[in-house]
Amino acid sequence: MKKQETIVSREEIERQYGFMHEIRMLPHRPETYYIVTYGCQMNAHDSEKLAGMLEEMGMTPAPSREESDFVIFNTCCIRDNAERRALGNITWLKEVRKTRPNLMIAVCGCMIQEPGMAEKIMKQYRFVNLAFGTSNLYRFPELMLQALNSMESTVVVDDGEPVPEGLPVRRLRHDAAYLTIMYGCDNFCSYCIVPYVRGRERSRDPGSILKEAEDLLKSGIQEIMLLGQNVNSYGKGLPGNPSFAGLLSDLDRMGIPRIRFMTSHPKDLSDDLIDAMACGKHILPQFHLPVQSGSDRILKLMNRHYTREKYLERVKRLRDAVPGIGLSTDIIVGFPGETEEDFRDTLDLVREVRYDSAFTFIYSPRTGTKAAGFSDQIDPDVSSRRIEELIALQESLQKETMKRFLGQEEEILVEGLSRRSEHEISGKGLHGISVTTGGYNEDIGRIIRCRITGLKNNTLTAERI
Ligand code: 5AD
Ligand code: SF4
Repeated sequence: MKKQETIVSREEIERQYGFMHEIRMLPHRPETYYIVTYGCQMNAHDSEKLAGMLEEMGMTPAPSREESDFVIFNTCCIRDNAERRALGNITWLKEVRKTRPNLMIAVCGCMIQEPGMAEKIMKQYRFVNLAFGTSNLYRFPELMLQALNSMESTVVVDDGEPVPEGLPVRRLRHDAAYLTIMYGCDNFCSYCIVPYVRGRERSRDPGSILKEAEDLLKSGIQEIMLLGQNVNSYGKGLPGNPSFAGLLSDLDRMGIPRIRFMTSHPKDLSDDLIDAMACGKHILPQFHLPVQSGSDRILKLMNRHYTREKYLERVKRLRDAVPGIGLSTDIIVGFPGETEEDFRDTLDLVREVRYDSAFTFIYSPRTGTKAAGFSDQIDPDVSSRRIEELIALQESLQKETMKRFLGQEEEILVEGLSRRSEHEISGKGLHGISVTTGGYNEDIGRIIRCRITGLKNNTLTAERI
């Protein structure tokens, strides 16, 4: 427990830099790397840290995994399909190894942190050179050196992840950046494996967060996405009990053009946070508020600690304080014991809230979680039918909710050229919705103003002002 609350010492980080520089000098080290990332933004950001360390070791990115000397799989295990996809791709690389014997393969991330997975990798995936859990990310240089100097696989998984500060990061985008404010989760929703693989909640010190944000601002960043499994409980256990609302207001004052965050647990969504959003100048009017189910009975079984009524009250408060706010959610169907009536309650809630977008999932039992032991698991055909019905409803409602933007001015941060044309660009508007409009390569990474003129398949179309 104690270990989880500590920050990785400066000496330890310096030791890791020493390993990175040692690897740089090795004649037999890989020249190029390729990272395959599965899962959420947390993982995407961990991959940016891995890339930062690999570049410090002297390696450069390869254009594809087939052409790379070193392939690293940063895995996810939130649902069974994420895990199967990763294991399938790792096995496929074994074939590539037959023609390229020097190819080095590593596997890291949440899947490795699952009980029994490290043993499985050692037995069934012996061709993997290196495997390590999320808790060992900061020790990657040391483990990499060990793997480079050994004929055997190096497999390391520890419990609890002290907060690492000062690791190199190679960011994929120069205009928008992830900034982790907390790690882990204490909520133990009965379906979820995250608390088991990412450990207990640990918040970063506000000073380090503000310093990182300031450096990003100086580098010309346009948007920061604050990351945490439950950002609303940020600060727990830190001296002075800083709050997420306070942190957000401090960041807002700094002048970063756009600030977003995810994810929020409805039970911890405070009035202070809503007020901070209402008063902020740079906090985007968007909120991801996973509801998971619209049935009080199922919410209880999920261990979510709120009722449908409480959830709807929070939504109302958000909408009153930030008119027009973009709302998104996560919903699980087919949770053990979910009756037709429970499912209808979910459809009903979706109709009532009218989300701008919803990520919908079929419940996937995860070994070690409470719900995996529930006796009344749902027939997969029933779950498939329910998710289809839910998606159809959400799509039809979304077409309606998006109409409120027609004729409105929007500011979009341009992410890239649209897939349809070289003279069209796309990016995210203030409310978190994708917008396409006319533009060129040189607009990428800029914030541009436009007026919404139409809707096309869940995105908005616009003309530039
Ligand atoms: N089965 C299906 N969906 C899940 N999620 C988390 N665990 C599971 C699971 N076992 C979903 C939740 C969460 C999102 C990130 O993934 O909706 O909010
Ligand atoms: Fe999983 Fe619940 Fe924690 Fe989200 S809040 S990461 S769903 S345990």
